[in-house]
Amino acid sequence: MKFKSPRGTHDILPQQVGIFRRVVDTSRRLFERSGYREVVTPMFEENELFARSVGSETDIVQKEMYVFKDRAGRELALRPEGTASVIRSYLQHGLHANMDVQKLYYVGPMFRYDRPSAGRYRQFHQVGIEAIGSLSPYLDVECIAILRDLAKLLGIEEVDVLINSVGCRKCRPGYVEVLKEFLADRYDSLCSDCKTRYRSNPLRVLDCKKDHDLRCRSTIPVPMDYLCEECRHHFDEVRQILDSSGIPYALEPYLVRGLDYYTKTAFELVFKSFGAQNSLGGGGRYDDLVEMLGGSSTPAVGFSAGVERIILALEMIADSESKREEDKQKGRVVDVFFVITDESIRIPAFREMLKVRNILSVDMDFTGKSVKAQFRKADKLGVRFAVIFGTDEMNMGAVKVKDMKSGEEVDVSLEDLCDHLGEMKVE
Ligand code: HAM
Repeated sequence: MKFKSPRGTHDILPQQVGIFRRVVDTSRRLFERSGYREVVTPMFEENELFARSVGSETDIVQKEMYVFKDRAGRELALRPEGTASVIRSYLQHGLHANMDVQKLYYVGPMFRYDRPSAGRYRQFHQVGIEAIGSLSPYLDVECIAILRDLAKLLGIEEVDVLINSVGCRKCRPGYVEVLKEFLADRYDSLCSDCKTRYRSNPLRVLDCKKDHDLRCRSTIPVPMDYLCEECRHHFDEVRQILDSSGIPYALEPYLVRGLDYYTKTAFELVFKSFGAQNSLGGGGRYDDLVEMLGGSSTPAVGFSAGVERIILALEMIADSESKREEDKQKGRVVDVFFVITDESIRIPAFREMLKVRNILSVDMDFTGKSVKAQFRKADKLGVRFAVIFGTDEMNMGAVKVKDMKSGEEVDVSLEDLCDHLGEMKVE
């Protein structure tokens, strides 16, 4: 009998460990640079901890948890996320006593019995931070900034920050009433899951992937329009700080996230090239959770990011870069382009070009283009090297050779130009 890893799980093989470590090490460095300290919690907890914090009516708790009884009959669950465990640990060890704001981070495997697909696994890894003890909107922005910086540091540029406010226990019940009324009139058009959500947790209807029609064609009420004064003020402040910190974001009024503990700010970082499962990470404020788990009223905010999702994005970027390079090579018309910075240099440059053509394909501009436009043309021709004939260099009998791939420039004497280019590998 041959064994395979269980469905939705995967081995990280030696050739993949490098990239996995790079994501985790970069996260650790970034978190620690921002004042967060690592906490390591068990991979399983009492089942009740997640039911109470993530929410007993969420998909995660209803459908995705690995719940089991140990030999003594205790009901336990593999952790589907890290926040509940961090808060449990914070309370159990009285971490609030020695610091006004506790900044904690974690790295480790999480478990969700979800339908496996690209970027969605049953065991996956998260890196995450939690700042516990302050209502300051600056901390909301700090979390968003760290999540975005993490992607950027790893080389993922094409990301969007989506933000929303989901209100608090004061204003949300009023909003939920309005939403229920709205849904009641359209009950028959809801999917079967949303019919259940309508009764147990109507907010979840907003992030149903099946009810696109309902969302698009109608004027479904959104939490942002029903915020109380305090939530509205907090959200305005978060937006102002994002603006003044130069962090671009988009408002996403349907963003309610799949966990019940959120209050006020909710955010996600999405990678534009992913289709579904496009969230690299997400988080938000959860000002009631500490109290819900038995502590005193303590506001908190945090996020976590999926390591496998980040790796997938990095692989997609590497693939498209190598494809672009391949396309460029396929479309290459000549190997080298001669750029002249002044018309007076055309004669020596032309003479050199004829020489170099003995060993490589070379071209230059014959229409009096500006230097910038000559470079644009070189790019269009997909050349590997540009040889720049500048007046100063020419007075010293030299030119600059620019590697168009790396951008590196070297001075080469005219005498050596043929040999130099001949030695350069033109793949
Ligand atoms: P979450 O949105 O459920 O939030 O998960 C965060 C990230 O984990 C997602 O954006 C995604 O990258 C990754 N992820 C989630 N499920 C899977 C899966 N099945 N396979 C692969 N990757 C996955 C939380 O977990 C909250 N605890 C975040 C938080 C921290 N909020 C406040 N503090």
